[in-house]
Formats: sequence, C-alpha cells, structure tokens
Amino acid sequence: MDLTLSIWRQHNANASGKFVTYQVQDVTPDMSFLEMLDALNEDLLSRGEPPVAFEHDCREGICGSCGFLINGVAHGGQRGTTVCQLAMRFFKDGDSLTLEPWRARAFPVVRDLIVNRSAFDRIIQAGGFISAPTGSAPDANAILVPKEAADTAFDAAACIGCGACVAACPNAAAMLFTSAKLTHLNALPQGQPQRDERTLSMVVAMANESFGSCTNHGECEAVCPKEIPLEFIGKMNRDLLRAVWHRHREPLVIPGIVQEPLHEHVGIEAEES
Ligand code: SF4
Ligand code: FES
Repeated sequence: MDLTLSIWRQHNANASGKFVTYQVQDVTPDMSFLEMLDALNEDLLSRGEPPVAFEHDCREGICGSCGFLINGVAHGGQRGTTVCQLAMRFFKDGDSLTLEPWRARAFPVVRDLIVNRSAFDRIIQAGGFISAPTGSAPDANAILVPKEAADTAFDAAACIGCGACVAACPNAAAMLFTSAKLTHLNALPQGQPQRDERTLSMVVAMANESFGSCTNHGECEAVCPKEIPLEFIGKMNRDLLRAVWHRHREPLVIPGIVQEPLHEHVGIEAEES
C-alpha cells in the first residue's frame, strides 16, 4: 500500500517546526508503524535528507519509549496498543496520516516526534521507592500479600510511562500516570511505611511540573496502551486526603511565629530547674 505522511519536523527545542509531506510506497500489512517509518528514513538517507527522529527501544510494548500522535490520536487509536506494536494492516492504501509529537507544555519537543518526558522522572524520583532492606530475595510468602492487593499493584505496575495520557488530556494532566505509580506501591504491604509521605511527595512533584488538573474527561484511559483504569485516580485522591489528614494531626509549626510552650512542658521545665 502507498501512504501520504504529513510529519512534524523540528530541528531542536528552540527551532520553529512545520509539517512536511512524504510519500511512502510498498508498505506491507505485516510491518509495524515504526518499521514503516524505518523504510521512510532509509529512503530519506539515500537522498541525503535528515531522517525523521522518533523514540523507540523494545518495540514490543513494554519500555514506554515510543509514542506520538497519529491523526491527532495518541498511539494511533488501536485499544491497548503502542505505536511500536501498531500493525500497518489497520490502514488502507492511499491513506493520508498526520504524525506529530505529544503536545503538552510539560513535554517540550526535543526533535521531530521526540519530546522530553523528564517531568515524569522527577515525579518517580519524589516517591517511587520503598524502604525494604536490600540483600538477598526474601522467601516466598514471607510477607503475605492479599490477592486483591497483588492484582491491583500488578495492574498499576503495567504503566510504561509513555506519556500518552498527558497528550490526550485536554488539560495535559499527568494524574493517570502518577496515580498508577502511587497505586503500585501504596497497594502493597511493603509500601505502607512510606504511604503518606510518598503520596504527598509525588503529588507535590506533579503539581510543580507544567501539568494541568484532572476534570474527568477520561481521554487518558481511552488512549492508554496499558489500559490503566481511571479508578486509580480516585485511589490517589483518597490517599492524598488520608495523607493530609494524618499530617494535620502533627503539631502545627508556623515559621516566624513564636511558639508558646504547652502547660505540661512548663511544668517539666519548672521541675528540672
Ligand atoms: S498511564 Fe498509560 S498512557 Fe499514561 S504513561 Fe502510563 S502507560 Fe502511558
Ligand atoms: S518501543 Fe518500547 S514500548 Fe514501544
């Protein structure tokens, strides 16, 4: 089949970009979308033109490297499918396709179809860990994990950090991603010691980036290649309330305000002196 591709070309983050039209011929139904782009790039290189830059690594839907908009839809619109696993059999001879990078202020364009997703890394760094001791692997069943918790954590851990949820959201919110990363650890017994701290740290890290807020459109869930459910955002919001409530029980310290000692402290000081 032959295709017409309109691809966003942008030399670097500071350059202005534009769509450039290319013809791709002899595309076979068994090719993946990225293999089709490989063929285009071989053709461009043979003509001395710069290849189209796009991210990829595993090409089997597990690393989260790949991703861009095809006709305005993240990953191309096949349910539960990344662009690296998207087969050309879903397209027709003569199709015209528009390819552009994720559009979100928090994901600046690096080049062509590649964006900088280090905002996601900073959210993970804020709390994506547990305080389990390192060393050899513990015996199986040493820590009992309820089946429901294990299933929830497993489903949440499926998030590959591709960023499609942000690109699809009209507010460019990162709540589906952050909620998946939080739910993964907050659901497990091993994640309980740092549950409140993790929730507050990761939500604050998310708020410090240029993401918007969730207004329940559900576009993120619709395009997520790992089918992360919206209910995880509800779990994150409940965990946030829980963490704020626990934090509220700690003594309130207002910088710059002289703290009056409690009566019992006065009594202790009097006894000590
Ligand atoms: S929640 Fe889904 S769309 Fe968002 S980063 Fe994770 S895998 Fe990608
Ligand atoms: S290249 Fe790894 S998920 Fe697509």
